Amino acid sequence: MQEKLVELKEAALASLSDVKDLAELNDLRVKYLGKRGALTEIMKGMGKLSPEERPVMGQQANEVRAVIESLLKEKTEAFEQAILQEKLESQRIDVTLPGRVVARGAKHPLTLIVEQIEDLFIGLGFEIAEGPEVETDYYNFEALNLPKDHPARDMQDSFYITEDILMRTHTSPNQARVMEAKQGEAPVKILCPGRVYRRDDDDATHSHVFTQIEGLVIDENIRMSDLKGILLFFAQEMFGSDVEIRLRPSFFPFTEPSAEVDVTCAVCHGTGCRVCKDTGWLEILGSGMVHPKVLEMSGYDSEKYTGFAFGMGVERIAMLKYGIEDIRHFYNNDLRFLKQFNRR
Ligand code: PHE
Repeated sequence: MQEKLVELKEAALASLSDVKDLAELNDLRVKYLGKRGALTEIMKGMGKLSPEERPVMGQQANEVRAVIESLLKEKTEAFEQAILQEKLESQRIDVTLPGRVVARGAKHPLTLIVEQIEDLFIGLGFEIAEGPEVETDYYNFEALNLPKDHPARDMQDSFYITEDILMRTHTSPNQARVMEAKQGEAPVKILCPGRVYRRDDDDATHSHVFTQIEGLVIDENIRMSDLKGILLFFAQEMFGSDVEIRLRPSFFPFTEPSAEVDVTCAVCHGTGCRVCKDTGWLEILGSGMVHPKVLEMSGYDSEKYTGFAFGMGVERIAMLKYGIEDIRHFYNNDLRFLKQFNRR
């Protein structure tokens, strides 16, 4: 038995010395030390030994097992180390490499202008009131003193969805919506930015979708001079403290009197140039005193309250402010254009 043990030990050590990988190691472990392995096989002979021999053989068998086990362990660790080393080599991280730059989006120039105008008017105590782009004929026209078949509806060629529903042609329906919701209560001081839709052929100065900002103030003793004062403040904040404004008589069914508002030409400062067609003035918005009929229709006592309203095209304001020659730049998503506005 002793011989067998020595043989086994020699054989095991010999085959372990040129083992090639973890799988082979495992096979050898099973072969020599496994439940049906060579060592177990030898140990089966223990029963035939004398009581004196038994402990001696047992001890020797344990020693053989211990020697093989420690060699197995050593080899296993060596292989695992080699595998780890190889991984570290192949997956090495170069911490000196520059990081990948995350491309950051930026606000669209129209958003920037809308926010700038909102800030101005919030500073004057206005609240922002938005409304739906899909609007009823009632709010878009009728509540603004534009009954069906009124010729002034032609001023705003519309996209109708049904006979009574259309894409709003201006932000003025918000006036009627807010007044109605306030149930005759004053003051009203709102600013309504939003997208509007008109059946226009797109060209350098027209777009069938564009952006408007509407303003409405209603209270006791609101006069046209209040409108003029606020618009002068707005124009000077937007275009520079040296600009003047000029009000020209105009017509809107929902305001009476109505005025078109011009500012001093930002390009030539009033001396006359190609942009202002030699007039020295640029038209920037429509405005007027809220028509008594409009007040009454939305539940306001027109004997007690008066108000003014104005509406401006945001693209036009941005084009004048930054010298942009084509409105389509705003919608083409050309990064060369958009990136110029990342910083305010
Ligand atoms: N809603 C008008 C337009 O789009 C502008 C406007 C608003 C005029 C408010 C007067 C008062 O043309």
